[in-house]
Amino acid sequence: MTTRPIVCVTRRLPPACEARLSAEFAFRAGDDAATSTAASLAAHADGASALIVTPIDTIDAAAVATLPSSIRVISTFSVGYEHIDVAAATSRGIVVTNTPGVLTDATAEIAMVLMLAAARRAGEGERLMRRGEWTGWRPTQLLGIGLAGKTLGIVGWGRIGQAVAARARSFGMSILFHTRTPPPETGAGFQASLDGLLGQSDIVSLHCPLTPATRHLIDARRIAAMKDRAILINTARGPLVVDDDLIAALTSGKLAAAGLDVFTGEPAFDPRYARLENVVLLPHLGSATAETRLAMGMLAIDNVAAVLSGRAPPHPVTV
Ligand code: DGY
Repeated sequence: MTTRPIVCVTRRLPPACEARLSAEFAFRAGDDAATSTAASLAAHADGASALIVTPIDTIDAAAVATLPSSIRVISTFSVGYEHIDVAAATSRGIVVTNTPGVLTDATAEIAMVLMLAAARRAGEGERLMRRGEWTGWRPTQLLGIGLAGKTLGIVGWGRIGQAVAARARSFGMSILFHTRTPPPETGAGFQASLDGLLGQSDIVSLHCPLTPATRHLIDARRIAAMKDRAILINTARGPLVVDDDLIAALTSGKLAAAGLDVFTGEPAFDPRYARLENVVLLPHLGSATAETRLAMGMLAIDNVAAVLSGRAPPHPVTV
């Protein structure tokens, strides 16, 4: 009888994904305790051939170094992979994979949710209703900013940035975009300078990966380059933004509003955001639809299955 390879997972996955893992491999499910330290993760992964991780698992050089030598692939249930030290994994001969593409629409939808809610003050209105303080329609009550006719500046022109652009155009917005590595045919709207994009955009939406070069991309200097009363949307990664600087701009009125789905230090976040009426806060819901999480899980398993059967995975990540 052949022994099936052990696939170790750090968190509970959608039931259909766990059912597939049980059918195809020796499946070891995880929980917060199993993965709280590098040592507990290594113990959890003992004897496993593959490790499926999520964006909240820190697989840094120390964690990679303590993984058992049996691990051949680290498959992240996410498109972002800044939580994995890919160089350290590669140097141990471990393949790293991710799940791009399947969460594009869901994440673009959440960017639109935040854009609409921040511009039209939906959070403030909802809180007013829940407090029972609505005293009736008024000509001047909770006046927001309309999207039609406004300019959306998209930072990062990958799948998600482009999907947000398509949706925003249908709201009557003009699109500008900035990317560090422009495609050969950028078309209209490409801004070679980030500051140039910031200075022309009524709403700025971040869609770039978190790398050493993009950490703290939006700081006081870049906020000063934005239009007065602009809106910032972040569905990418919290550390793209300097919280102190964004909070100062939202407090002073330099920026009209912000919509945030991601935070530095998640699940903790700067408590000052929660005290600002002009911020819409979501708990990292970008990919949180049943269809999308199922597709992410299946793609993460496809990556594992390919590596364990000696094939190239659909979505390898390189340094
Ligand atoms: C990702 O896949 O990187 C997302 O942040 C998960 O929602």
